[in-house]
Amino acid sequence: MSMQNIVESQFVKEMCEITQVMYRRNWDERNGGNITLLLTEKEVAPYTDLTDIKRTIPVDFDAKALAGKYFLVTGSGKYFKNVEKDPEHNLGLIRVSEQGNGVELLWGLADGSVPTSELPSHFQSHIARLSVDPENRVIMHCHATHLLAMTFTHSLDEKELTRKLWKLCTECIVVFPEGVSTIPWIVPGTNEIGEATSEKMKETRLVVWPYHGIYGAGQTMDETFGLIETVEKAAEVYTHVQAQGGMKAEISDEQLQQLADRFGVEPRPGYLD
Ligand code: 13P
Ligand code: ZN
Repeated sequence: MSMQNIVESQFVKEMCEITQVMYRRNWDERNGGNITLLLTEKEVAPYTDLTDIKRTIPVDFDAKALAGKYFLVTGSGKYFKNVEKDPEHNLGLIRVSEQGNGVELLWGLADGSVPTSELPSHFQSHIARLSVDPENRVIMHCHATHLLAMTFTHSLDEKELTRKLWKLCTECIVVFPEGVSTIPWIVPGTNEIGEATSEKMKETRLVVWPYHGIYGAGQTMDETFGLIETVEKAAEVYTHVQAQGGMKAEISDEQLQQLADRFGVEPRPGYLD
């Protein structure tokens, strides 16, 4: 059976498009940011010989819960700037090994490179999201500028931060009614930050990493990008508001409740007065 060109697949094209958009937003300087997209065997089969494992790359955490699953991933040290012009060197198609202690490379990472160093956070977050939403497909990390800045100037208390973001843009409570989570500062790429992030991912699709960036999760690339885009917009507005002399008004709790009622969303319990 002759294979179709994977670079022409909908999933590689979408990954190219989104990484380029994120780069242009200035959220992914140098190699900053990483994305993992869960794919079905049916989706990948037309594009690659599933028995032709190019390399097996060990992972030092337990990925057994994802054994046999396929992911399109960004490479470690790779620049979002370059994904679109050279997907084969900047992306990889991997399958988690049966034992869950490695990933089998089926396509890409052509110069011998490896998947993102944030694979522990991504895989543990996929496991956590799938446990609460079987349709979750995407984990996305980036260094969204205004939100990153806000972690230096605003309380990182989850309720306080969520309420502030909700009150900065009318759409926020509709887009992320469950709010945002925060974790302590932890060294990136470690299993420890993966555990902290994934624990929060059971509650919220957005997890803020102080002084670093954000993690988002969703069923589609658009949903996940849209979540990050919306929270980053609120943080950008906050930046302007502070520069203009500080908040002299805000969306009230009552108005937030009206929005929730109108759009049929359930705000995080206990977050509205
Ligand atoms: P990678 O290049 O390994 O994906 O790491 C980038 C990053 O943002 C780390 O948090
Ligand atoms: Zn990062």
